[in-house]
Amino acid sequence: MAFAVLFLLFLSVPFSSAKLNPDYYSATCPDFAKIVRDQVFTKQSVVPATAAGVLRLFFHDCITDGCDASIFISSNAYTPHAERDADLNLSLSGDAFDLVIKIKNLLELTCPGVVSCSDIIAQATRDLIKMVGGPYFPVRLGRKDSLNSDASKVPASLPTPTMTMDDIINKFAARKFTVREMVALTGAHTIGFTHCKEFANRIFNFSPTSQVDPTLHPKFAEGLRHVCWNYTKDPSMSAFNDPRSPSKFDNAYFGNVLKGLGLLRSDYLLGADPRTRPIVEEYAKNEQAFFRDFAKAMEKLAVLGVKTGNAGEIRSRCDQFNHIPA
Ligand code: HEM
Repeated sequence: MAFAVLFLLFLSVPFSSAKLNPDYYSATCPDFAKIVRDQVFTKQSVVPATAAGVLRLFFHDCITDGCDASIFISSNAYTPHAERDADLNLSLSGDAFDLVIKIKNLLELTCPGVVSCSDIIAQATRDLIKMVGGPYFPVRLGRKDSLNSDASKVPASLPTPTMTMDDIINKFAARKFTVREMVALTGAHTIGFTHCKEFANRIFNFSPTSQVDPTLHPKFAEGLRHVCWNYTKDPSMSAFNDPRSPSKFDNAYFGNVLKGLGLLRSDYLLGADPRTRPIVEEYAKNEQAFFRDFAKAMEKLAVLGVKTGNAGEIRSRCDQFNHIPA
């Protein structure tokens, strides 16, 4: 009987994540958590955009072929089109890459060859979310870094702002996320910013009869037109994802979405589609419910497609494989 229960428990854990646990480095790199925490604190204090940048980087890494640091590989003669060079990844934050690489360098001095880049970003993401006011969740450790990185896998994996809600739901379902988990995860848009080109079609020449998308709050649309007036010449122009509390991880995003203050078309759809609207309404009213579901969904995202054993390696540098791929 006891054996049967154990066997069922084993089956209920996704195979590759079964070996991960939060104490993975307690013997081999006891300062791991402290080093990550200290570096996260220093970086976020100096560059407040770091938390959002790292969270998005982690999402993009995990959703494409698993949480395996494949996004850190730099293209070279042997890997000419690494994941990082995919169009959808070009706007990822340089500060986010820098933080992980800095932590990796420190860890290589303290416990060489022990900690994977994929574990560093998982732990740093959690610490940063907590630091900007979001919920805590345990991070299971023991991921290996990938042995390949391929830009061509990115477009099929990532959702984009112009997709229909059917497409967005299907993208997440392909990674075994429910509609509720997708809505909770997208609550990440409570921090960070978006470049004007991602929503320019909503505020300039929207239709023959209207300059702006009528689903946007008119005052908000006016403000965005002001912020983005020169975006074609200056592509760095951006707006905060959550105009009410841009740097705080809270549930304000959901209230925004319901009031026409969602920046992306996909944000608007979350508040309009009958499958997602009730969840958005619930999270807008109840921050605790959002935090609980976001934390659970992040735990699930963080073990997506992880590599263990011989399926991966502990890279010496996050941006290079240890050996030239065959
Ligand atoms: C419906 C699905 C989603 C779509 C279409 C989407 C799309 C986008 C786009 C276009 C940007 C702006 C990028 C830029 O201009 O640089 C962005 C930013 C961001 N996204 Fe998403 N996203 C989605 C879901 C998610 C999820 C699930 C997460 C995390 C769990 C996430 C985290 C972020 C963060 C934190 C930012 C701000 C980045 C920064 O400030 O550097 N997004 N997203």
